[in-house]
Amino acid sequence: MAGAPDTASMLATVPFFSGLDEKKRKSLVSQGKEMSYKAGDFVVREGAMGVGFYLILDGKAEVRKGDRILATLGQGQFFGEMSLIDELPRSADVVAVSSTKCWALTSWAFAGLVKTNPEIALQMLKEMVKRLRAAQSSPTS
Ligand code: CMP
Repeated sequence: MAGAPDTASMLATVPFFSGLDEKKRKSLVSQGKEMSYKAGDFVVREGAMGVGFYLILDGKAEVRKGDRILATLGQGQFFGEMSLIDELPRSADVVAVSSTKCWALTSWAFAGLVKTNPEIALQMLKEMVKRLRAAQSSPTS
């Protein structure tokens, strides 16, 4: 598949996938799709139903709720997991702030990923706890 080896080597550098052996990583790459966004493009819109999980391969994206910026995410960081986990609408907008490349998984491939790879589920939980702590300590408006 065109582009697949490139994605595989990029995923190998992402801590999120570092617990996986090469065979697993390669099979995972074939389940996802690379997507490119320009600065200002909405990758995810608050209130929409979630159909994808995204990992940033290159670039930067802001998580926004109204006019508040909740977080800026970069290479190796993920978003879009919340809606796929609780099947509720997207909790925030995610907007590319520079030219950004993501690796995207459908909701069913995401479910398979977390069910068959406990090490990835644990990495994701750790990151979600970190985000929750950051949200708790940020000033309320
Ligand atoms: P989801 O709700 O599917 O779509 C919007 C995404 O933004 C959400 O999943 C998370 O991945 C991400 N997100 C929401 N709130 C925060 C936050 N406080 N910090 C970092 N990322 C967030």
